[in-house]
Order: sequence, then C-alpha cells, then structure tokens
Amino acid sequence: MSIFNEKIDRLKTSSVKWELTKDIFGEADLWPMWVADMDFKPPQAVIDAIKSRVDHGIFGYTFVPPSTAGAITDWLQKRHQWEVSPTWLLYCSGVVQAISAAIQSFTAEGDRILLQAPVYTPFFDMIKKNNRIVVNSPLTLVNERYEIDFASFEQELQQGCKLFLLCSPHNPGGRVWGRDELLKIGELCLKYNCLILSDEIHSDIIFREFKHIPIASLSSKLSERVITLVAPSKTFNLAGLQASAVIIKNEDLRNQFQGTLTRQGIFSLNTFGIIGMEAAYREGEPWLEQLIDYLQGNKDNVLDYLHDHLPEITCVQSEGTYLLWLDCRKLNVSDAELHQLLIEKGKLALEPGTKYGPGGEGFVRMNIACPREDVMEGLDRLKKALG
Ligand SMILES: Cc1ncc(COP(=O)(O)O)c(C=O)c1O
Repeated sequence: MSIFNEKIDRLKTSSVKWELTKDIFGEADLWPMWVADMDFKPPQAVIDAIKSRVDHGIFGYTFVPPSTAGAITDWLQKRHQWEVSPTWLLYCSGVVQAISAAIQSFTAEGDRILLQAPVYTPFFDMIKKNNRIVVNSPLTLVNERYEIDFASFEQELQQGCKLFLLCSPHNPGGRVWGRDELLKIGELCLKYNCLILSDEIHSDIIFREFKHIPIASLSSKLSERVITLVAPSKTFNLAGLQASAVIIKNEDLRNQFQGTLTRQGIFSLNTFGIIGMEAAYREGEPWLEQLIDYLQGNKDNVLDYLHDHLPEITCVQSEGTYLLWLDCRKLNVSDAELHQLLIEKGKLALEPGTKYGPGGEGFVRMNIACPREDVMEGLDRLKKALG
C-alpha cells in the first residue's frame, strides 16, 4: 500500500486549502482541489529533523548555514545536472516574495514585463502591484498542448520588455519546456536585452517521459542573464515552512537583488524553513520518486474517468506538476455558470481558469495531490456538477 493513500485530517490546522473555501468560494465544506499544496506528509527525514530541532528548545536568530546551500546545489546537480556555486544563492521566504523583489530590483515603475498567459495569478499581481505593465504573449493550445507563439513573443520583446517571467514548468498548462523552446526563448531575450526570471518551483515534479532543463544551465551567456527561483515547497509539501532560494550567477545582478532584500529588512529565513529545506534536499529523493509514480497514477485515473464519464471535458497534456488543466469549453456554459454548478451542485472547489488571465476562460484547474480515494471523490462531484 502506498504511503500516499493515508488520509490525514487537515481541519483545525489553519489549512488554507481545507479551511478557507468559505472566504474564497463563498461556501464552507467544499471538496478542496484548488490551492497548490498536497495532502501528503513530507519525507520522514524532514519531520525528524524538525522534531530534533524542536527538542533543542532555543529558537533564536538563525542564519542559513553552508550545509543548507550545499544541499540545494547538490540537489540541482543531481536532479537537473546544473552546476551551481553556493555563492550564487540568496534566500526568500517565498517564491512570490522573490518575484516581487526581482521586479523591484531589475525594473522601474512603468516598465513592461512579459509573461505567457494563462499563467500563475501572482505573476500578474506582482507586476501590477509594483506599478509595472503586464505584457502578454499568449500561449497557444495545439491539440491540447501549450506551445509558444515565437512571432508574438519576439514582437513584444521588440517593443521593449525589461523582464520576462518564465513559468518553467508551466502552471497551469503543465508543460515542461523542451531544450529547443528554452534555447529560442534565451536567444530572443538576449537579442532584445530582456532579463529572464525563471520560476522553477515545479521543476522536481516531472512525469517520467519528460525532463526539466533549468534555462540558466543552457549556456554561459544565458547563465549571466537569468534569475532562477527554486523551493522545496511544492516538491516536498513544505509551503508553510516558507523557504525558497534565488539563484543569480551574475554578481552585479545578485548585488542588486541583495540590495532590495536589505532595504526590505529581510536577513534570514525561519529556523524551521532552513532545517526542513536542508533535510528535504538531502534525504527526500526516494520519497519524491514514489510521489511521482503516485501522481502519475492519480493522473491516469482522472484521464480514464473523464474519458468514461465526462467525455466533453478534456485534460490539457500534463508533463509535470500535480495540477491538471481541464478544458470545459465544449460544455458551452459561461464561466459564472460553470463555477456555480461546481460549487452549488458538486460542492467542489476547483480554481477558475479566469484567474490565470486571458486564455483561461472555460478552463478549471484541479489539484490531484491527494490520496487516490479523494481524487475519485472529486471526480464524482465533478460528474454530479457537470455530467
Ligand atoms: C509557479 C508558481 N510560483 C510560485 C508559487 C508559490 O510560491 P511560494 O508559496 O513560495 O510563494 C506557486 C504556487 O502554486 C506556483 O505555482
């Protein structure tokens, strides 16, 4: 029996996913397959390392030790064949915080920042809240797989963009970008002098036939123009520990980013974030291998279920992440009706596609990182709502 079949009650833990549906969807007691965390315990080594730190009993100011940096760089080398020096690392509590700090570090108010919608909502929010301009080069859906329209991408760069927010792998589209695509992105961004901010938070959850390539690892020229964001939060389900790493090889860019953190008074991470991050990257690999297979099983179950019971709904080809992007456009209902049906009839909380910007209309995002039985419960509710 898989460890991931264990059902764990998350109520009364201030879980955003389980306890905030009333605030977000207007109803309590919805079956939660929305926000991106998992209903799984992390690797036992993470729990043990935190317990042992708790037992020590003193929680004073803590710095990120070289052993944590080493755990991160060893992980990147082993999993993604990317040689990173520990001196290139800076830390933020979250990847979204790092996105905002990067926008503040490398662009000015009124600057144009490029993204590819539909994409993770805070990309838009962080650009807008920092008074920069969102520029969208929309992804195109070809046979239920997202592709980059490089003509549109180049056209936007030609008009001047200071920064490109790359989501790699892509949330919610599920694409694990291939070498040729990343090389082309890199070539165009270098040509038009646009820095790349590569959010690689989902880079460890990749289905077997695919391979994540850190864009900064592709050439020495690119490595000087890319800021990469990684974290153990999605991989090992540690979002509440609030720890992420920012990788910047270029010293000037790194100093600029460090300057922003210093101005914001950010000097270190939460003690348990540091402990959890190091234990996860050092000892979590066997657990991750099992997780990927389990998620593949969950995904297969969803695909079979849709095929058998809800053939009007198709799933966009998912190469990585535990988030499925369901195309409901053939149902011919408006987004408002779709969500009313899901909430009122299905008692099911899925992320509305419209949250992800243009191109998200008619889609919903389903989080399948939960015990298989819970995935099936969600599917039955989907059928009740939309069947
Ligand atoms: C692409 C992407 N970036 C960042 C985050 C959130 O990162 P954090 O919780 O570290 O701010 C998520 C969470 O779903 C995500 O999908």
